[in-house]
Order: sequence, then C-alpha cells, then structure tokens
Amino acid sequence: MLHKRTTDQNIQDALEQGDSLVFGSSGLSRPAPKYTMPQDEMLPRQAYQIVHDELMLDGNSRLNLATFVTTWIEPEARDLMNETFDKNMIDKDEYPQTAEIEMRCVNILSNLFHGKSEEGREACGCSTIGSSEAAMLCGMAMKWNWRKKRQAQGKDTGRPNFVVPADVQVCWEKFCVYWDIEMREVPMRKENGFRVNLREIPDHCDENTIGVLGILGTTYTGEFQDINLLDSLMEEYNASTGYDIPVHVDAASGGFVAPFLYPDLEWDFRLKWVKSINVSGHKFGLVAPGVGWALWKNWSELPEELIFHVNYLGGDMPTFALNFSRPGSQVIAQYYNFIRLGFDGYRKIHQACMDVVFKLRDLVAQSEIGEVVFDDIKMPLLAFKLRDDFNRGYSVYDISYKLRAYGWQVPAYTLAEACKDVSILRVVAKEGFTYDLAALLVKHVREVIADLEGNAQKRETPAEPQTRIC
Ligand SMILES: Cc1ncc(COP(=O)(O)O)c(C=O)c1O
Repeated sequence: MLHKRTTDQNIQDALEQGDSLVFGSSGLSRPAPKYTMPQDEMLPRQAYQIVHDELMLDGNSRLNLATFVTTWIEPEARDLMNETFDKNMIDKDEYPQTAEIEMRCVNILSNLFHGKSEEGREACGCSTIGSSEAAMLCGMAMKWNWRKKRQAQGKDTGRPNFVVPADVQVCWEKFCVYWDIEMREVPMRKENGFRVNLREIPDHCDENTIGVLGILGTTYTGEFQDINLLDSLMEEYNASTGYDIPVHVDAASGGFVAPFLYPDLEWDFRLKWVKSINVSGHKFGLVAPGVGWALWKNWSELPEELIFHVNYLGGDMPTFALNFSRPGSQVIAQYYNFIRLGFDGYRKIHQACMDVVFKLRDLVAQSEIGEVVFDDIKMPLLAFKLRDDFNRGYSVYDISYKLRAYGWQVPAYTLAEACKDVSILRVVAKEGFTYDLAALLVKHVREVIADLEGNAQKRETPAEPQTRIC
C-alpha cells in the first residue's frame, strides 16, 4: 500500500530538495498535467506559477476594445469582491445582508428606470449572472403571461412567437430556441442608415405574439432604438386588435448610460407597454463580470408560478433564477458603485468615454478611407468601416488582425440580416480608455494601414519575370 504523506511533509521534502525555487523546481521541470488529474499534489506556488504563466498569453483586457464588459475596477471594489466571492448569493439564510444588498440594488435600479413603488412591496426584479440570464427570465415571464391568457380564453397555446429587430444579441436567439418560440426578425435596412425600421414591428405581430423587443444600445452599432416610438406603435396596434402585447427593453448596455447622460429620454417604465427590462451590471454598470439585472414594471407582470419561495429567513424570500449557486461579490460591487459613484460619478465616467469616442469619430470621418457607420452616437461605441469606393485589396478583417500584433482587440464583423454584406470595425470605450490610449490606437491603426498599403502597392507592381531553372 502506498504510504500517505501529509502536505507538510511534502513541503518539507521540497525544501530539502531545493524546491523553494519556483523555476527549476521539480514541479516545473516537466509539462504541466493537462487533460487528466495528476496523482500527486504540488506546491501552491508552483501550481500558481504554471497557471499564471499560461494566462500571460491571453489578451490584455484593458486593450480589449471588443468587449462591452468592464475591464477596470477600483481597488476598493476589488477588495470587496475578494472579501465576498465565497458568499453564495442563493444562500439568503446564511447571508441575509448580501440578500438585503441585492434588493437595495433592485430598488435603486427600478427607481432609476422610473418604476413606481407598490404599496408595502419592494420593487420587482432580481440579480442574474448577466443580461443573457435576465433575458431568459423576462422572456419566460412574457411567455407564461401570454399562455395563461390564451388558456383562460380556451385558445391554442402551441405556437408562440417573439418579434425582434434583426440586430438582436444572440441571447434572444437562444431564448427562442430554448423555450420553443418562433423568433420573427424585422430586418436591418441599409437605406435606413443601418437601422431596423421599428414601424415594421407590428406587421409581424399576431395573437400568438408573447412580446416585442426594443434595444437600447445595439450590439452592432450601439444604436438606441426609439423605444418611445415602439411604445406608441404597440399602443395603436393593441388598441386596434384588442391584444395586449408587451414591450421588453434589452437595455444591456444603454440601461446604465441613458439615465445619466439622457435623463429626459423616455425608454423605460415611464412608457405604458414597457413591462420588463434587462440590464448588465458588468457593462456600463461598471462591475467586473458577471452581474445582470431583470426588472419588471410591477409584480403582476411576473407570474407567481415562476417564483420559488424560500422561507428559512423567518420571512418570505422569493427567488427567480435559472442557476442556483453564484458568488455574491458582483452584487456587492454593484452596490459599492451605486454609493461610491452616485449619479454624478456615473455621468462623469460615461461622458469621459463619450468624449474619447467623439474624438475617434472625427478622425475616422476626416480620413480618406474610413467611414462612420452609425453617427447618432448615444453610448461610447464607434462602429466604422472602409468607404464603399475603397478597394485596395485589404479589408477591415486585415486591419483587425494586424492590430492584434500591437495588443489591441478591435473586432471586425458583418452587420445583421439584410446588411450582412457590410463588414465593420467596432471600438467600445470603457472606463480607463483614456485620450492617451486612444491616441496610441490611432497611431497603430495608421501604421497598420501604411503596412497594408505597402503590400497593396507591391501587388500593383507587375511581378518580375522569374528565371526558371528547369
Ligand atoms: C444588446 C445586448 N443584449 C444582451 C447582451 C448579453 O449580455 P450579457 O453578456 O450580460 O449576458 C449583450 C452583450 O453584449 C448585448 O449587447
């Protein structure tokens, strides 16, 4: 039988064998175990170094201009997150203050989105792992509400549909596939400035429509769709048909921008048919990933059957979530941001990012080869492409690829349905993307283009006839 050793003995042995070194130690003198569990333990420092070093090959998140997700947080927020990652969000009995803080955040957000408090009740909403989970929860609520009404009328419930602008994020496609719902897409139109014409949305609705979607801050261009218009279109449609199809707003990005930069813009619970909203705390809510929020205008929008009640606190703790266990740290960091930044702090940070984006927009507009795709910039995102008449044998994909050599991640991708022949580049400016970093990006884009132009010129020069040896 194998002799069992204690960790202390192993560490002692390691010291004796000279393994107090990290590099040059026995643990690092062979390839790290990859696909099967090793038999023996190794020293924590060695394991740390192996994992740490491998991760050096990941991109630098601060230079990741592709993501909408927060890449810089304050040291105090980091401290709080370190202190709370071991608190399980679902365990409201064990961590009543974490649960209390979650509900404070829901109330703060509902208030920010002009929800009206109901007598003696908290605002209706919950934290999630991100907007995708929030989308599933809000979508389910719409489906359940629709089905209940249809059942009460003795009507068929077998063919629900959901009407969305074509520039939806993939989470809505997932929602429709997972919950067996037909997704009806309203196409993006080139002639409409790469927008979806929201006026086409009611044409796609019928008695089986569980809801329609408006997006505040699209993933493709950052457009703030006109939710006010969508609301009035649905008011007209519902009045003429007798249906009551709700509007859900995907405010994953815009929900944390609009209240601070455009407080008068009506897109939220001020509007009659907006019944639910999802928003990502880890995007412009400025929390490290992953936290999102699902909010309903009032409790009657959230079917009771979807809520599970936990009563081990002595009181009644309703929960609505897809997953069970999740760290409490992001919710704590969200609350930290709320009280730390306040309204003015959020506004200043977002405005600083907007200023950088406006500067970049001007540079693209002045350039001979670039063109801004979507000029009605409401959030710190710039979508741009090569001019239509530009044909030098290279594309936005080449620019994106070559920028990686400098460390920048600037994604190139095609636009949504009906505009898929147009490829663009996108820069999302997040907290910490300063003028100085933006100036470096511009310098590097210029260098990349000069390089690509050099190759283009070479291609134009006729190749020398080659002397063939055989
Ligand atoms: C408009 C929109 N909706 C939903 C999502 C999904 O959000 P999350 O990453 O928080 O799940 C995104 C992510 O980029 C988004 O841009």
